[in-house]
Amino acid sequence: MFSEPSQPFHIRSMQPADKEAILELSRSLTSFFPDDVIPMISSGLDKDPVLVGEIGSEIVGFIVYSIRDPQTAEIIWLGVKEEYHGLGLGSMLLETLEQLLNRKNIKKLVASTLSYTVKYKPFEKVRTFYYHRGFKSLGIQSNYYDDGVDRLILLKNL
Ligand SMILES: CC(C)(COP(=O)(O)OP(=O)(O)OC[C@H]1O[C@@H](n2cnc3c(N)ncnc32)[C@H](O)[C@@H]1OP(=O)(O)O)[C@@H](O)C(=O)NCCC(=O)NCCS
Repeated sequence: MFSEPSQPFHIRSMQPADKEAILELSRSLTSFFPDDVIPMISSGLDKDPVLVGEIGSEIVGFIVYSIRDPQTAEIIWLGVKEEYHGLGLGSMLLETLEQLLNRKNIKKLVASTLSYTVKYKPFEKVRTFYYHRGFKSLGIQSNYYDDGVDRLILLKNL
């Protein structure tokens, strides 16, 4: 069971005025998003659809996705403010995206993250998050990231 945040978590589409708050949230996740990733998140916010989750007027989570083809969507970026981790907000963002994709008759959702072949503790929780929400490992792309580390590709059939 998750403990509830003190105010309701409201999920909506991103507005252009939200961009700086999302980047600030991303910059605060220093164990997960190194400095060189922030410009990539910024360009994702400019070109891909985004859902944001807010508590009161504060954006505390976001999910950037893209529709790859009529049957497949991909999570490009997903983040929840660290002090709110473990409250179910990441799950709610994912469920809202899945409902939206269901309405578009999209059957597959792809995600990717740092591979389990890389010994780096913060991402163990991220992989568990995806596994516990029905994603299965599809494969590893060796030396995918700039610094030569492996990427894990995950797939969920919706
Ligand atoms: C992945 C991420 C979005 C999950 O968000 P979240 O709001 O913590 O997710 P939830 O609360 O729905 O689920 C977190 C899981 O950790 C568990 N958990 C329990 N206490 C926790 C705590 N104090 N902190 C974190 N997780 C906790 C939850 O029980 C849940 O486990 P489960 O899978 O067994 O149910 C979040 O960890 C994050 O922002 N990570 C950094 C960015 C990132 O790496 N994104 C993915 C790649 S783009």
